[in-house]
Amino acid sequence: MIERMQKSEPFIVGFDPLHALPRKERGQRLDAYLSFLQKRDGEPNLQTKTLSEREGFFRQIDAAPVRWQGEIDRDSFHKNLNVSLTEKVDPKIVWLLAAAKSNRVEQYGVELDLKLKGDHFGEFAHGQHMTFIDLEEFYHTRILRDCCKVFDLEFNIDPPKSFTRWFASMVVRSPFRARLVTALCGELFGCVAFQVLWESTTIFADQPEVMRRLQLLVREILIDELGHVAFGHAMLGPTGLVAVRALYPIIASYFLKDLPEFWILAGGKEKFLERVSAFDLASNSNLWDLSAAPA
Ligand SMILES: [Fe+2]
Ligand SMILES: [Fe+2]
Repeated sequence: MIERMQKSEPFIVGFDPLHALPRKERGQRLDAYLSFLQKRDGEPNLQTKTLSEREGFFRQIDAAPVRWQGEIDRDSFHKNLNVSLTEKVDPKIVWLLAAAKSNRVEQYGVELDLKLKGDHFGEFAHGQHMTFIDLEEFYHTRILRDCCKVFDLEFNIDPPKSFTRWFASMVVRSPFRARLVTALCGELFGCVAFQVLWESTTIFADQPEVMRRLQLLVREILIDELGHVAFGHAMLGPTGLVAVRALYPIIASYFLKDLPEFWILAGGKEKFLERVSAFDLASNSNLWDLSAAPA
């Protein structure tokens, strides 16, 4: 049994990420988030781009490989990897394309950020939060690759499609305050997208070991992204959050144009966008009971 922190910390639940908090509470939440990160991730190492606790998690994953038994439509996966999905394909392939294509966005953003920041990667004037957050984003690309590896699917990382590429580049190039706004929009989309990916692992229920492995991997990203939203929310005051409220439904609908796999998995574009508008960390607190299977 692979061990991982199972329960949430109280900092994360109980608030709507689009409503501003009093200044004092913002500070308290940032402190609580940092201690959560230290416990969950262990020691950060900017040279090796590693987090000690997460390395332990991956050692356990690597020591207990899980593989899909039987056929999977590999042709359809590779054929649709570089194009917008317009044909009807097996839901398993939709899920794997969602994982592979979101991996590209993560990888593109994190590599560009690293290139632009150089030796300042992971630096943050107000605490060590960004060191953890930047390193967590590094791990997301590995996690999404590991999901595809369960099916022996390897793929080349090309830059993402049009809007997602422009947006990732705009976020990492934005000055700090503006970046908090744009990044929070991206993190909110990411929360809904990875919730959908986590819930729809039931597509693989006929091989329970595979389903559980994918749940274990995706929830690792999901917890990180919920934390990134909590961070962005605590960093922004009322004006910043007004900007996020105005921008993020538009950004989400553009993201879905490049990544239709996510709305297909969610049961329709409208359904996905409804979840984006209604997103609330408090109403998602059930996700923090990580021993629970997706509903
Ligand atoms: Fe991420
Ligand atoms: Fe994130």
